[in-house]
Amino acid sequence: MSYETISINVLNGVGTVTFNRPEAMNALNRKMMEEVYTVVNAWQADADVRVIVLTGSSKAFAAGADIKEMLDVQYLDALDANFLNDWNCIAECSKPTIAAVAGYALGGGCEVAMMCDIIYAADTAQFGQPEIRIGTLPGLGGTQRLTRLIGKSKAMDLCLTGRLMKAAEAESSGLVARVIDAESLLEEAQRTAEKIAGYSSTAVQLVRESVQAAGETSLQQGLMLERRYFYSLFGTADQKEGMLAFSEKRDPVFER
Ligand code: CAA
Repeated sequence: MSYETISINVLNGVGTVTFNRPEAMNALNRKMMEEVYTVVNAWQADADVRVIVLTGSSKAFAAGADIKEMLDVQYLDALDANFLNDWNCIAECSKPTIAAVAGYALGGGCEVAMMCDIIYAADTAQFGQPEIRIGTLPGLGGTQRLTRLIGKSKAMDLCLTGRLMKAAEAESSGLVARVIDAESLLEEAQRTAEKIAGYSSTAVQLVRESVQAAGETSLQQGLMLERRYFYSLFGTADQKEGMLAFSEKRDPVFER
């Protein structure tokens, strides 16, 4: 199947979605949302895809929601259609997600990257929530996820001024996991994805759920959940294999 606004590729357990609207700095329009939604949902049910990488071009991961498409939108139309909602498929994805960001990740672009489990940034990356400059505010989680990731003062600084933040600042403030040479960005992201794809998917799932819970529960509830998950993995063949392989000084062969 071919797509208008994205290209896709599956290799070694890793599904890669590349945003492809070069004429608009990969601005996120409705067609792109539909296509990403279709692919991510299909991959969630596809055993050949264990980890998903989202990326863009060297110039832009995505420069935000498509401003030209929103020019004539009225309040009640937006409310009734909830037209951004299907981007949540990334935040709600049951498989690990990595954003490989080069160039601009602005507005909705930064927000989609933040929906992913891990963000890798090229040294060329620039992040920002510049919606204030066009008379609006982030609508895909920018005020919420950014604040949780980098703290109130810095999130206010970015959202209230609309200034852009370069890769080094994004790394030091905790938004991105690693800064990588632009030429190696996608390869590195895919290598990480392949590594995760090689682990027991049951353990991977519980790690993700446990880390995600850290942002949503009290410390005591989170610790309890983590302990329960830890104990529950003793009921799996992959945990037995992992520990046995360690003690036999060999690589584990996971079932799932
Ligand atoms: N929507 C629609 N088109 C966009 C776009 C966007 N978000 N960003 C860039 N483009 C288009 C430009 O209009 C231009 O098209 P034309 O050649 O037809 O004029 C093309 O992409 C190239 O852009 P520029 O000429 O502006 O390139 P530049 O290198 O001078 O600047 C930029 C790049 C800094 C990213 C600049 O384009 C820019 O500021 N873009 C808008 C960023 C923005 O405001 N994003 C927030 C959008 S609202 C949002 O995302 C809400 C939300 O939370 C969901």
